[in-house]
Amino acid sequence: MCGIVGYIGQHDTKEILLNGLEKLEYRGYDSAGIAVLNDEDIDLYKVKGRIAALRKRVNDTALSTMGIGHTRWATHGEPSAENAHPHQSATGRFVLVHNGVIENYQELKRDYLNGVAFGSETDTEVIVQLVEKNYEQYQDTAEAFRQTVSLLKGSYAIGLIDKEDQDTIYVAKNKSPLLVGLGDGFNVVASDAMATLKETDQYLEIYDQEVVLVNRHFVEVQKLNGAVVNRRPFTAQIDVSDTEKGTYSHFMLKEIDEQPFVMRRIIQEYQDEHDQLKLDQDIRGAMKACDRIYIIAAGTSYHAGLVGKQFLEKMAGIPVEVHVASEFSYNMPLLSEKPLFVFISQSGETADSRSVLVKIKEMGHPALTMTNVPGSTLSREADYTLHLHAGPEIAVASTKAYTAQIAVLAILAVDTAQAKDLELDFDPMQELAIVANAMEVLTDQKEAIETLVRENLGTTRNAFFIGRGTDYFVCLEGALKLKEISYIQAEGFAGGELKHGTIALIEDGTPVIALATQENVNYAIRSNVQEVVARGANDMVFSMKGLEQDTDAFVVRHVHELLTPLVSVVPMQLLAYYAALHRDCDVDKPRNLAKSVTVE
Ligand code: F6R
Repeated sequence: MCGIVGYIGQHDTKEILLNGLEKLEYRGYDSAGIAVLNDEDIDLYKVKGRIAALRKRVNDTALSTMGIGHTRWATHGEPSAENAHPHQSATGRFVLVHNGVIENYQELKRDYLNGVAFGSETDTEVIVQLVEKNYEQYQDTAEAFRQTVSLLKGSYAIGLIDKEDQDTIYVAKNKSPLLVGLGDGFNVVASDAMATLKETDQYLEIYDQEVVLVNRHFVEVQKLNGAVVNRRPFTAQIDVSDTEKGTYSHFMLKEIDEQPFVMRRIIQEYQDEHDQLKLDQDIRGAMKACDRIYIIAAGTSYHAGLVGKQFLEKMAGIPVEVHVASEFSYNMPLLSEKPLFVFISQSGETADSRSVLVKIKEMGHPALTMTNVPGSTLSREADYTLHLHAGPEIAVASTKAYTAQIAVLAILAVDTAQAKDLELDFDPMQELAIVANAMEVLTDQKEAIETLVRENLGTTRNAFFIGRGTDYFVCLEGALKLKEISYIQAEGFAGGELKHGTIALIEDGTPVIALATQENVNYAIRSNVQEVVARGANDMVFSMKGLEQDTDAFVVRHVHELLTPLVSVVPMQLLAYYAALHRDCDVDKPRNLAKSVTVE
């Protein structure tokens, strides 16, 4: 979490930093700050709150040509102006921004910084105070910086400026994402290329345990021992317009609406000119070779994994276990002889998943990452990557990445079945095309969903989602969407589990959303609906054409029964969106959350 940006050049640094931070706000948004070098001094602006509040603070017009900025998701120390970055060393000479967690900050404080007065409660401040301390010894900022970085344990992406050096931003990275962008007469630093795409599309990837000296005219990547590393830049393949809201009021609504196009893009990307599936041969090989798949993911991606398990088992005939990333290490199951680990992650940066990846790589097991960000940490560190092709997802609540994950999992399952010569009566591209059309119909029915929200979710404090089989997995996702952006306490339950405890929560008027898209459970789930209605619940059944009843609240078009989550989730996403909107919640940036969860 947290986003950092830096600029050194000839243009208006403050504006470039603020624009960059606005693009990085998805990474955290409880406080923010920038530091810019003006003649011989550093101007520091820090606020509790959003970048909009920071913009109001930064009201002077003096031009500066070098600076660093930060948007924060608090880990150590409450959100406040004091704890906001950049942090300054005791004499004020050095300022620093940091994304990550310094695990040994207390030891460093005790061993090296006795007597230093700290101005914040953060782990980060230790780094900048240590740079100053090391400078006293080495009298060279680059050396003081390298020495400091070599003492750090944990995750970090760091930008540092020295008041006495108008020509360099000092940068370092370990585990947290960081890129250096290259321009003509300027260079930039950012957690994500999206932040500085207006400036450049040429980027240098920075590896763990490297430091970089970023000058206006050159960039030098070094190892921690000072050895210089040569690296070629790459072109960031992101369209600037994908990172803008356009005519939409919220990114989330834009991203919900983009889902049919994402399905069609996935069809294009995974099909060759002879209409055959097009997957990396090495991935095919790994899928054929494994005897069990372990899916590792968090949140919405975990929910996509639960759906994917069905495809992989039913179509490719491979047993699959789906694990919550943050729990896996504590409860590591007995592994099969030839396991394949599949990491599902929109951002490719989730720390909980990465720690599992590091562990299983140490054990020598192969790993495939399915991600929306191919150059991300999980993608780089796994053996294979499958790209989701959803385009940048900016709203904190994941929508189009979830449906992209499911679609790519279906393609992977079919491809493996074909590679294993298994008989299959399922054309994924044709079925996904049908899904895309069904999604389009749904995104045109927003008014109907908004009416359902107004009539049924008005002032409720809680809501339940019930389903059986595949529908149950979509219920988990529907409940997560609703709670994370509208703050309605929402839970997804397996319909059959109600009578084992949950039904005690049903009162007069409790909203119960039921999914009925599977023929084999249609009768059973409708009995569960009757059970809650008999106890006063306010039911809303979302069914699929062919299985509907007169009293159903909403009917989605018919699609292949394995792919129903791709359509049934769309009204769930819209329910959450309108519930949040009607409660005046910040739809794209819900409280306490961040898009990219880079702390464990
Ligand atoms: C919820 C949501 C989160 C993420 C989770 C994993 O809407 O977006 O639950 O799914 O934090 O993130 P990724 O997929 O980036 O690993």
